[in-house]
Amino acid sequence: MIEIVPAILTNSPDEFKKMMHSVESRFLSVHLDIADGIFFPNTTIKGPNELGKIHSRLKIIVHLMVSEPENILEQWLNTEVKALIFHIESTKRMDKLISDTRAKGKKVGIAINPDTSVEGLVPFIENVDFVHFMTVDPGFYGSEFREDVLDKIKTFRKKYDKIEIRVDGGINTSTAKKIVEAGANVLVAGSYFFKNGRNIDEALENIKRII
Ligand code: DX5
Ligand code: ZN
Repeated sequence: MIEIVPAILTNSPDEFKKMMHSVESRFLSVHLDIADGIFFPNTTIKGPNELGKIHSRLKIIVHLMVSEPENILEQWLNTEVKALIFHIESTKRMDKLISDTRAKGKKVGIAINPDTSVEGLVPFIENVDFVHFMTVDPGFYGSEFREDVLDKIKTFRKKYDKIEIRVDGGINTSTAKKIVEAGANVLVAGSYFFKNGRNIDEALENIKRII
């Protein structure tokens, strides 16, 4: 069973509330993109404050596209989020990020950019709940899908047949099937669901039909 997860990326607290509301009844979980403008040239809502003001039945998974996430870890550990995703490129303290997050009963994912080789992940694989492959250069909605990452995912899947693989970036009805065939368990899609005027129910049905 492949899970499909909507990704919320916004710098407006009001917009965040509206987007959360629009996916509330249709999904099991939601992916919240947080960017600090340093790790990538884009900024989003900060997150913990905004989350404190809403109630959601969804599992919230936070993708920290920030430099040195250890500096803001504490505030995230005090939220209700179910999982945190740290970029392998963003920190020298991955071990500590993983152990502190797990100690709080939250899941951990480790994210890897299209141009980063998987070697760096190996020491952490046993200790994380999933690997999060980026299939776009992160930071924005609607970036170009990086077809070349599919081979990286396939090779990784052959070697690690049990670990959960999440794929994030450029997912739509033309790319979803080949991503699943490469070995993904979870697809994270942003602009596919949140394009202006998009009917989220229909979009979800269409992608489900394809995979
Ligand atoms: C990329 C973010 C993704 C993004 C996906 O910077 O990490 O989660 O929201 O957006 P799309 O699906 O439009 O590529
Ligand atoms: Zn993301």
